Order: sequence, then structure tokens, then C-alpha cells
Amino acid sequence: MNSKLVVAVDVFDCNFALDLAREIGKEVFAIKVNWPLLMARGSSIVSELGQYTRVICDLKIADIPNTNRLIAGRVAEEGAWGVISHSFTGEDSLRAVVEAAGDTKVFSVVAMSHPGSSEFIYPSTDALIGLSIKAGAYGLIAPGNDYSMLSRIRSRTRDQVLMTPGIGAQGGSPEEALKHGADLLIVGRAIYNAEKPIEAVREFNAAISSFKGQAENKQLS
Ligand code: XMP
Repeated sequence: MNSKLVVAVDVFDCNFALDLAREIGKEVFAIKVNWPLLMARGSSIVSELGQYTRVICDLKIADIPNTNRLIAGRVAEEGAWGVISHSFTGEDSLRAVVEAAGDTKVFSVVAMSHPGSSEFIYPSTDALIGLSIKAGAYGLIAPGNDYSMLSRIRSRTRDQVLMTPGIGAQGGSPEEALKHGADLLIVGRAIYNAEKPIEAVREFNAAISSFKGQAENKQLS
């Protein structure tokens, strides 16, 4: 299945998450877990969900290098495909995540999808992109609901994979995000709150497949 869809599952109910992963796992690129599931179950939720699909840990790691290393090392041990880290803590902190993550891909936040991102993060986005590339990030997190910011980030890197939250509940559209340079689309509530999540997944996948405008189509392992 060649989907570009990353489904965020922001719930505390591990059985719900595992049932959902079983149902949609083969039709999505990955499932993204955040603090609610990790608080409810501990890091083993990563390997449990990993039976069904790739797992991305959205921890937005933002600490000193030593602590970052511990966190990234644990998610790598659990077999996570990817992990999300902040970059504003500096190159040494992000580099520690990259080194400890090993084969787990590190995505670095350079702009966020909520309005408050414009207060402090947006003015620093260019510097955060440069720092993230230097530290060895595999990908960047860019807003899928702010197309001018997304295009600006895309124009500053061809190599990094752009993963974009903000699609669905936060107003972004899959076609527009792809048109402005996204490689992977994160969708949470619009799927896990849907009456039939598998049907919502298929609708997003259909919208993604119908988009033909992307100049390059990154092949992700
Ligand atoms: P919804 O329900 O809005 O969920 O589709 C979005 C998911 O993505 C996370 N999120 C972000 N993660 N940078 C990130 O690294 C962002 O700017 C951002 N905005 C949303 C959010 O926690 C949820 O899991």
C-alpha cells in the first residue's frame, strides 16, 4: 500500500488504538502516537501497534542532549519507524536525538499548525530549518494548513521529507498540502472520530491519489 497518510491516534484507550491499527494498518503509511497513548500504556504501545503498520512517536522532544538521547534510544528500541523532535533547543540537542535514534527517522519541528506558532516559531523557521539539516534530520514538520509557510519550507530543502499536520480538523486540505510540497500528511480527529474510520482513510487516500501535480514523488522505505 503506497499511502502518504499518517494517522494520529490521540486517545488514552489502548484497545481502541490497537483495534483501529488492525483495521486501517495496511491502508496507511503509519500511525502516529502522542503522549496520551504513551501515558496510558508506556513505550510498549509502540511495538504493539508496530504489528500492524509503521509507528511514528510524536514526542516533540525538547530537552538537554543527555535526556533527549535516553528518550530517542527507547523509542528506537521499541521499533518506531520515526520520532518527532523539537529543534529550538539547539543543534546539540537535536543531534543527540539523531544519534540515539539510529535507524529510526527523526523529524524536526520547524513550524507548527496552530495559530500560536506565529508568535515565536515562525520568526525562527529559517534558522530552525538550517539547524535541523545540519543536525542530520531525515524530515521536517511543516504546517499542512498554512500553504505559504509550507511552500517556503519546501523551497529551502528538496532532500528532507516534509510531514504535515493540520489536515482535516485544523482546516488543511490534502490536495493543497501536496501541491505546496508535503510528502506525508498527518490526519487525526477526522479519522479516529469518524463513524467509520476505514471509510475516512479511504476517502483521504483517494484524495491523495487523485493529486497528480507533484513534481517528485519520494519513495519512502
Ligand atoms: P488533528 O486531530 O488536528 O491532529 O488532525 C493533528 C496531530 O498532529 C499533531 N500536531 C502537530 N505535530 N507539529 C507537530 O509536530 C505541529 O505543528 C502539529 N500540529 C498538530 C497533534 O498533536 C495531533 O497528534
